[in-house]
Amino acid sequence: MWRDLKVMAGKARARGIAPLFGTGRAADFSVEAGGLLLDYSKTAIDAEARAVLIELAAARDVAGQREAMFTGAAINETEDRAVLHTALRNLSGRRVMVGGVDVMPDVRETLERMKSFAGAVRSGAYRGAGGAFTDVVNIGIGGSHLGPEMAVRALSPYGDGPRCHFVSNVDGADISDTLARLDPSRTLILVASKTFTTTETMTNAATAYKWIEGAVEAPGAQFVALSSAADKAADWGIDASRVFGFEDWVGGRYSIWGPIGLSLMIAIGAGGFTDFLRGAEAMDDHFRSAPPVENMPIMLALVGLWHTHGCGYGTRAVLPYDQRLGRLPAYLQQLEMESNGKGVAMDGRSLGHASGPVVWGEPGTNGQHAFYQLIHQGTAVVPCEFLIAARGHEPDLAHHHGLLVANCLAQSKALMLGRDLETARALMHDAGYRGAKLEQQARHRVFPGDRPSTTLIYDLLTPYRLGQIIALYEHRVFVEGVILGINSFDQWGVELGKELAKTIQPMLDGTAPMDGKDGSTRQLVSFVQSNRG
Ligand code: F6P
Repeated sequence: MWRDLKVMAGKARARGIAPLFGTGRAADFSVEAGGLLLDYSKTAIDAEARAVLIELAAARDVAGQREAMFTGAAINETEDRAVLHTALRNLSGRRVMVGGVDVMPDVRETLERMKSFAGAVRSGAYRGAGGAFTDVVNIGIGGSHLGPEMAVRALSPYGDGPRCHFVSNVDGADISDTLARLDPSRTLILVASKTFTTTETMTNAATAYKWIEGAVEAPGAQFVALSSAADKAADWGIDASRVFGFEDWVGGRYSIWGPIGLSLMIAIGAGGFTDFLRGAEAMDDHFRSAPPVENMPIMLALVGLWHTHGCGYGTRAVLPYDQRLGRLPAYLQQLEMESNGKGVAMDGRSLGHASGPVVWGEPGTNGQHAFYQLIHQGTAVVPCEFLIAARGHEPDLAHHHGLLVANCLAQSKALMLGRDLETARALMHDAGYRGAKLEQQARHRVFPGDRPSTTLIYDLLTPYRLGQIIALYEHRVFVEGVILGINSFDQWGVELGKELAKTIQPMLDGTAPMDGKDGSTRQLVSFVQSNRG
C-alpha cells in the first residue's frame, strides 16, 4: 500500500496540480460539514489517488478503530486507557460506557459544577479578598495550557468575563511578567495539571501562592485545581469544592472540553462554552457517520498522509488567516507531534515508515512577510493548510477583511500556479532588462508552482465553529495515527529529558557531583556556575 502510494504520488508530481482542474474539480475535491468547507482541490490528489487513500483507510480499519474509541475500548494500549475526550462534549444524553459503567453522570455533574463556579466568578458572587475577580491566571503547561490559551484568544470577541492570562514556562520571566500587572487580592489562580505533579506547573503555582499570600489573609480561597489527581490537589491545600476533576481517559492534549477549559468558560460564559462543546459534538457525529469521501477528518488525514508518506514532504504549515487563531499552530504542534511523532508501532515494532510530520505556522498575512519566501521558492516543498473566515468580527473594518481574504486566496493560487521562466522573462523585458542581465533577473523571479495547499473556510469564528475546527483536527490526528499504526495517545518521548533535568539541577547548585556527565554538559554546567552571579 505505502509503495502504491509513493508510485502514485511520483506520477502525480510529474503531472502537476493545475492540469487537474476541469469542470467540477473544486467541488469534487472538497468536503462540506456543518458550515465548514475543506477544499483540497489544490493538491495533486486525483480520483485514482483518492481511491487508493480511501482503501488504505479501510485496510487499516479506521471505521472499526473509530467505534472502539467512541465506545470506550482501551485503545491507548501502552497506558491501558480508554480515549474518551468525546464524552466531555456528548450533550446528547447518550450513555458512554467504560468498564461497564456509564461515565456520563459524572461528566455532566462536573460540567454543572464548572458552570456554577464560572457563573459565580463572572458575577462577583465568588470573589477575592479585594473584591470581584478582575483577572484569572491559568497555570499549566502543554495540554493544560495550549488549548485554553488558544481558545480564549480565538474567542476574544465573546469574552465578557474577567481577563484571562496564561503562565506555562518554568522560566521565572513568565510568571513574573504576568503577575506584575495584576492585583493579588482580585486574581483567581487556576492550577491546571492532569497529574498535579508537573514541575513547571507546581513551581509556578507555589510562586503564585507566595505572591497572593503576601497580600491577603486567606490565599487558598483564590486557588482552584483542574486535575485528575484530586488527592494531590487536596494535599496542596485546595478545598474540594474548588477541585474540578476528570478521568484518565481524557488525554492532556485533548482536555480542553472539560475542567481544563474552565478559563475559557469564565471568559466567555457557560452559554458560549456550551456552544463550543456543541460544535465539537457536531463534528463527532459527522466523523462517526459520514462516508469516507464526505468525511472531513478522514479526508484531511488522507491529504496529510498523501503529502507526508506519498510525496515525502516532512513538514506541514498551518496558516490561519485569522489573527485570533495565532496560537492554533502551537496548539496543533502538541496535538499532532505529541500524538503521532513516534517511531514505534502499536505492537512495539519499529515503524518502518515516517511518523507524523513537523507542524508549524503563523497567522497570515504576517507569515507572508517572513517565511513564505521559502514556501514559494525554497527547495523543500511545504504543504500549506490555510484557514479563513468569510467575515470578521469588525464590521467597521470590512475592508481589512477583504484584504485578508484576498491575500489568503492569492497565496494558494500562487503556490499552485507559480510563474514560469517565459513569463518572468517578459516581465524583465518590460522592466528594461536585456541579454544576460535579463536572463539572470528572470531566473530569480520564477516560481516553480505545484505546491499543494488545502483551505478550510467558514463564515465566522464563533465558539461553535471553533469547537468544530478543534474536533476536526483531533479526529484527523486519530485517523492518521490509526493508518500509521501509532498509539496517538501516549507520550513516552517527553520523559527522558524530564528525568535528566532532575539530575542536572543539583549539579548546577553544586550539591551533586558531575560524574558520569558528558564533556559538553559538564562544560555548560561550569559556564553557568561561573556566570550566574
Ligand atoms: O510532558 C508532556 C505532558 O505530559 C503533556 O502530555 C501534558 O499535556 C503536559 O505534560 C502537562 O501535564 P499535566 O497536565 O499533567 O501537568
